[in-house]
Amino acid sequence: MNGSEAVPPSASLPAAPTLRVENLSVYLRSPAGEVQVVRDVSFTIGAGEAVGMVGESGSGKSVTGLALMRLLDPAKTRVEGRAYLGGRDILALPEREMRAVRGREMSMVFQESATALDPVFTVGTQLVETIRAHRDVSVKQARLRAIELLDAVGIAMPARRFGEYPHQMSGGMKQRVMIAMALACDPDLIIADEPTTAVDVTIQAQILDLLGRLSRERGVAILFITHDLGVVAEFCSRALTMYAGEVVEVADVAGLLAAPAHPYTAGLIRAIPRADDKGRDLYEIRGTVPSPTEMPGGCRFRPRCDHAGDVCGNEQALVTIASERKVRCVRSSEIEFEGVG
Ligand SMILES: Nc1ncnc2c1ncn2[C@@H]1O[C@H](COP(=O)(O)OP(=O)(O)OP(=O)(O)O)[C@@H](O)[C@H]1O
Ligand code: SF4
Ligand SMILES: [Mg+2]
Repeated sequence: MNGSEAVPPSASLPAAPTLRVENLSVYLRSPAGEVQVVRDVSFTIGAGEAVGMVGESGSGKSVTGLALMRLLDPAKTRVEGRAYLGGRDILALPEREMRAVRGREMSMVFQESATALDPVFTVGTQLVETIRAHRDVSVKQARLRAIELLDAVGIAMPARRFGEYPHQMSGGMKQRVMIAMALACDPDLIIADEPTTAVDVTIQAQILDLLGRLSRERGVAILFITHDLGVVAEFCSRALTMYAGEVVEVADVAGLLAAPAHPYTAGLIRAIPRADDKGRDLYEIRGTVPSPTEMPGGCRFRPRCDHAGDVCGNEQALVTIASERKVRCVRSSEIEFEGVG
């Protein structure tokens, strides 16, 4: 955890979720055939709710976000499943209609913000273009809105910064510009993919605070993708643990941290750095996430799991174990897990 004090969004769940994802699967096409990288992912996010999606590198988090935004190249990927936003299945919309949804109803803050901005244009020009792509406003009105947005994301002297190029800005500032872009048209849903990875702890706290405020004040639903459970603990009310393309645990964040139900989540929790770790080696889950082309049969976490037994050689289903709690581990109830807090 980073010791910052970001205020989490509202923990209460409204009746109708802003986003409902059902059985999302993503396949990458290759000359050797299709490889599945995301398998049967289902979840909901309510208005004003932030849901964390956590897992190590290669677990399928970004691919899930990009699939929901419909930003994966259809020549190289195939997406299955349904994703309802405002009552419509956005995975089934014609591309022309999806272009209107993207930006206006949902937007994404990308993992690599610095590269997402065009170095050739000022940030102001890029913001004005984004606004005018979705709203019927004059250049002058869009310019005022852009400056207002730069101010809203905490950029000092926004009118001056409006005329600057990305290379004149720090990483933290560019990340805020990306958030301003994502907010340009008041979306109902923001997919934030590692929005604070490339910035220092102070800026991270400010960005989390900003996203939290948006969520509470404007009711924006947020899918917060991260490898950092500490950030999820501060910012989200519910979390999904992803492993090797699958959801392996779903829980409210407090419950997840205090009493994880999947050995992988428990490993991620053990790996969170703590103040009393000084002088001790940080815990690491042994081994690595398997490549999609070499996925083990049965439980995908089995080669790395300290609790694996014969029964783990079978396919594992995501089972509901309590209200709002699901786990993909047949041995979950037999294992004594260590949580925090
Ligand atoms: N364009 C692509 N071509 C081939 N494989 C890809 C492509 N994009 C992603 N993958 C594979 O899909 C899997 C999931 O990748 P993804 O980028 O979603 O992981 P992630 O959880 O976001 O990881 P990170 O924490 O590193 O961002 C990985 O095995 C990755 O190698
Ligand atoms: S099913 Fe078995 S191998 Fe998989 S996480 Fe549970 S105990 Fe470990
Ligand atoms: Mg990623």
